[in-house]
Parts: sequence; structure tokens; C-alpha cells
Amino acid sequence: MLAGKRILLIIGGGIAAYKSLDLIRRLRERGAAVTPVLTRAGGEFVTPLSVSALAGEKVFTDLFDLTDEAEMGHIQLSRSADLVVVAPATADLMAKMAHGHANDLASTLLMATDTPVLMAPAMNVRMWDHPSTQRNLTQLLADGIRVVGPNSGDMACGEYGPGRMSEPLEIVAAIEAGLGQGPLTGKRILVSSGPTHEPIDPVRYIANRSSGAQGTAIARALAALGAEVVFVTGPADVPPPAGVKVVRVETAQQMLHAVEAALPADAAIFAAAVADWRVASTSSSKIKKDAGRLPVLEFAENPDILATVSQRKSDRPTLVVGFAAETDDVIAHATAKRARKGCDWIVANDVSPATGIMGGTENAVHLITTNGVEDWPRMSKLAVAEKLAARIAAALT
Ligand code: C5P
Repeated sequence: MLAGKRILLIIGGGIAAYKSLDLIRRLRERGAAVTPVLTRAGGEFVTPLSVSALAGEKVFTDLFDLTDEAEMGHIQLSRSADLVVVAPATADLMAKMAHGHANDLASTLLMATDTPVLMAPAMNVRMWDHPSTQRNLTQLLADGIRVVGPNSGDMACGEYGPGRMSEPLEIVAAIEAGLGQGPLTGKRILVSSGPTHEPIDPVRYIANRSSGAQGTAIARALAALGAEVVFVTGPADVPPPAGVKVVRVETAQQMLHAVEAALPADAAIFAAAVADWRVASTSSSKIKKDAGRLPVLEFAENPDILATVSQRKSDRPTLVVGFAAETDDVIAHATAKRARKGCDWIVANDVSPATGIMGGTENAVHLITTNGVEDWPRMSKLAVAEKLAARIAAALT
């Protein structure tokens, strides 16, 4: 329930603005008050009259004048809500937010606010995929802006792909989580992510191609549902999400110690690509080129963090989830891995180079549980993360 909560809803200029009318109704049904702000472009899609009629309040637009300023300055307007929601968040609004523009009412409110902000992006698929939008998204996430969606599917413009605004009830769920009322509020979840680096000498190391994108997306999705997330990450390419406790490590041994120190937890999700071996005896000084002699590296086995935690007696998390990146016989290998390691679920994927999954933005996974195998369609890593987070929430509550 959202009784007593006030939402400042900024409606941007996209066809998805029509869904924001329904969002207002769903929020009011749950007891929230909605202060609507309609951008100039938003006003091309829905009228101020329909917005204010549904909200039961005055709608603020760019046409606001000094009377409004005297009544309620933009600073106060931006801060009097419990949550600022931007829906639809267009490519243009995202760009303004990422770069600190304040040249209309909506962008000025977003700059002036000290209230958490949740955005529901909506745009054409190519605009969403455009490097500038993806850059802005990365920046906004790093700035602590929460994001719900976009979903994949048929779009009003006739194309197909990610860019559809989340449905009103999905946005309501994200708002509830943003207000500390999510399905995972009160749950502590550990997520491991990224590669590990295993030193050879002070300047060289052995690593793998993991970018950390999937683990980061999972941590973000869990936090968006209200979980307290401890994010143990190796040296990843993507920045860690905002709103989680970040523990940075380099090696598998350090990752094990960090994971053990973070227990107890309600769930543990091991998305890290941990190096199986480390160099048995690392050199404390740089190994020199020695004419005619090649260095020989001897390996030692790294601890299996997933198996160690899965087999803990006293404080094993209720749900332990491992990943299986395979290049052949994906399901058979992953099913055997689940039994061998003793975890509850395995998220399995095919990382053979032709799939473009390792280091890419999409993933096609199979979820292996006690009940068998579910094949999920190929989707963005963000969408895999949201679907997995929703399943974890269902399992823990
Ligand atoms: O055995 P494999 O490396 O394929 O297992 C993958 C799963 O096990 C992933 O969830 C990974 O995070 C975890 N793992 C681990 N510690 C290791 C190796 C893998 O936690 N040393």
C-alpha cells in the first residue's frame, strides 16, 4: 500500500504517456497522492485536463507562471514528494538528466530534487540501443537513478525490441520497492560478479573475459525490489550499481573470504566467473625475460566458492544460485553441476563465441531447479536480471 505517500510524476513526450494515465489511477487506488508534471512534448500525447482529472490535482506544465512560483517554487515542488517518477522517460529526458540540463520545468525539478528518482524509459528500439542512450543510462544508474524496464515487444512505431515502457503495475511495484515496500525489503542477498585476476607476478595476471554485466544487472534488480545487497565483485568492466554495498576483490581466494564475511544472507547469487586455478607460487618481483629460457607456470586449484557456501552447515543461505557458462551440452553439464555443487538453482547459458553472449548485452538462459529445466527466450541481460530477481522474490517470500 502507498497510503500517505506522495509521488511527483513527470510525464515525458512519448506515445507511452497514455499508460501514465493508468499509472496515476493505480497509484491513487493504493492511497498515494500524485503531483503531475507534464512536459511540453508530453502535452502533445495526453492533455493537461485528463492528467489533472485523474490525479485530482493541478498539473504543472512549462506554462506555469510566476503565480505558481509564488505558490510553490520549483525547489519545494521537487522536494515535497516521497519519490520522483519519470514515466515515460524519453531519450531526450534521459539525456537531460544525465548531463544536468535545467532548461524546462521537468529538467529543473530533476536537478533541484533531493528525493530518490525512478524512471521508466520508453522509446524506439534503435533510440534505446543507441550508444548515447546507453551511455546516459550507465551514467544515470551510477548517479543512483532507479530504472524500471524497458520491456521488449511490439512497439507503437511498428518495430520490435526493447523500448516499450513497463506496464503500470510493474511501475507500481518498482515504486513500492523504491519506498522500501518491495517484496525483498528486509532480505539480505549476496551477489558475486565479474572475473577474478590471479597474479603471476606484481605486473601480470591470468583473467577471463567476464565483463560483470550480468552480475551487476542482477544486483541492481534485487536492490530495486528492496533487498539489502552485498555485491562482491572482481575487476569488472562495468561500474557497480548504486544502492548496494560494494566489496571489491581481485583473486578467487579474496572473493571467498569476502563472501564468507558477508554471511549470513537469505540468498546468495554466484554470477562471478571465478578463475579455476591460480599460479601456485607467484613471484614477488617481475619475472625477467631470460634469453633462451621460458618461464613455466605451475597452477594450484582455487576454492570453489559456490560449492563451499552451498555445503555450509550452520548458516547456508535459504537459496543458493549458481551459474554455468558452457560451450556444449549446456543443459546436461549444468544439471550435473547443480548436483555436484549442492546449490538450489543453476542459471545456465551457452557462451560459445557464435552466441556473442560473453561480454555482450544479451543472454539466453535455462533455469535449472529441482522441478526441471525452464528455457527462457533470448533477452537483454537487464531483462534476465529482472526475471531472475522476481523469481528469487517469489522463492523467498
Ligand atoms: O564450475 P564452474 O566454474 O563452471 O561453475 C560456475 C559457477 O560456480 C558460477 O556460479 C561461479 O560463480 C561458481 N564458482 C565459484 N568458485 C569457483 C568456480 C566457480 O563460486 N572457484
